[in-house]
This record gives sequence, C-alpha cells and structure tokens, in this order.
Amino acid sequence: MSEEQTRLKQLAADAAVDEVRSGMVVGLGYGSTALLFVRSLAKKVAAGELQGITGVACALAMETEARSLGLNVSSLDQHPVMDLTVDGADEVDPALNLIKGGGGALLREKVVAQASRREIIIVDESKLSEHLGDKWALPVEVVPFALRPVSEYVTSLGAEVKLRLLEDGKPLVTDQGNWIIDCNFGPMADPGTVARSLEGRAGLVEHGLFLGLASEVIVAASDGVRRIPR
Ligand code: 5RP
Repeated sequence: MSEEQTRLKQLAADAAVDEVRSGMVVGLGYGSTALLFVRSLAKKVAAGELQGITGVACALAMETEARSLGLNVSSLDQHPVMDLTVDGADEVDPALNLIKGGGGALLREKVVAQASRREIIIVDESKLSEHLGDKWALPVEVVPFALRPVSEYVTSLGAEVKLRLLEDGKPLVTDQGNWIIDCNFGPMADPGTVARSLEGRAGLVEHGLFLGLASEVIVAASDGVRRIPR
C-alpha cells in the first residue's frame, strides 16, 4: 500500500471517528482502514475525549488489537445492537452496495452490519466502481466439507472460482473454521440476482455482497473527504 493510500485511509478513518459519541456501542470492522479507525478511536478514548465506549469486533484479530490499545471490547451476546459500525470495503458501487471479505472476515462483518443502527463505510477513492466485480472477485465463505460441490455450483453460475490460499499453500481459515473461495463474476449488472443465487445453498455459509447495508460511505480522495449518504 502506498503512503498516499494510507494517508487517504487515515483521513476517512478520522472523519468516521468524529461520528462516535460517548456511551456508544461501536462495531469495529476489519482490514487496514478499519484498523486506522480503531487506532484513532483508541487515542480519543485514552485522551478522555470519549467515555464509555464499548467495541464489538468483526474479527478475532481486531478484538486482540482493540484490547491491546486499551479499548473495552464486548460480545454480541452482551451487546446485540451496535449504535454505529465503522468498516472498510473492497468495492463500492454508486448505489452504495459493497463487495467485502478481502480480509476474510465477511461473515462476522455482515452479522455485525445487520445488527447495527448505522453502518459507515470508510474507503479511499480506489474502491469506487461503476459495477461491483469491476475490480474484485467476490469472496464466499464455504464449509470445508462442501468445497467441491459449492465451487462447482458457483462455477455453473458463470464465475471463475479460486480457493484462497496462504503463502504456505494451505487454505485461509476464517474465524469460524471455514474457507474462502474468490469468485470472479466480472462486472455485475445486477448484484441482487447474484446474491439471491448464492443464498440457501447448503455449505455456502455467506457471500461478500453487502446490499443495502451501508448507511453512508466516507470517501477520501486527493482533493478531500466526501460523504455519500444512502
Ligand atoms: C475484510 C474486509 C475489508 O473491509 C476490506 O477487505 C477492505 O480492506 P482494507 O481496508 O484493508 O482495504 O472486508 O474482510
């Protein structure tokens, strides 16, 4: 990631921190942009500018990080509704539909997004696309037992499917013990149809299409930060 991209992600993260108020339950997304948000949030909490913040993390790694920064982290059992969640995205289309899951946390991210009163997505301008799928294959979480039939099913829908592997050649294992297949559908004229075709298939746990879940997208570009409300 270039220094400029990090600078832009930080600008978007800081704009989102300004939306946090004392006493809020805050969903903590996952990825490099969400991490910048969590660090900025922790600084404000440590400085006493925000009090009584409770975080609910979308990934075990983020939970560990947030705790190490001194944030109070709870669970969905204790806090089933988030006042605000701040998360990144891999692609954002003009209708604020998203592809997520580049970090492999799409299932928890979607659970937390659906449990949030407000979902703010923070991105640098490189994430904006005319159509979802222009730049990114769709991550899909799959039960290892069902890898082959689910991969063949998604291939039959017209996607090119690849199991996501780590550098050691082993599959990336999600926080739920599942695997991720990256499904290249190309540009999606109708993401809703793709989403529906992926739902209700046994062994296919969840997909990274976040349709109608973002309340607002904060985009940082070289000429400044802009907000796109739903
Ligand atoms: C993780 C995600 C991330 O939000 C997405 O991959 C964006 O990551 P980054 O902020 O590092 O560009 O969906 O599962």
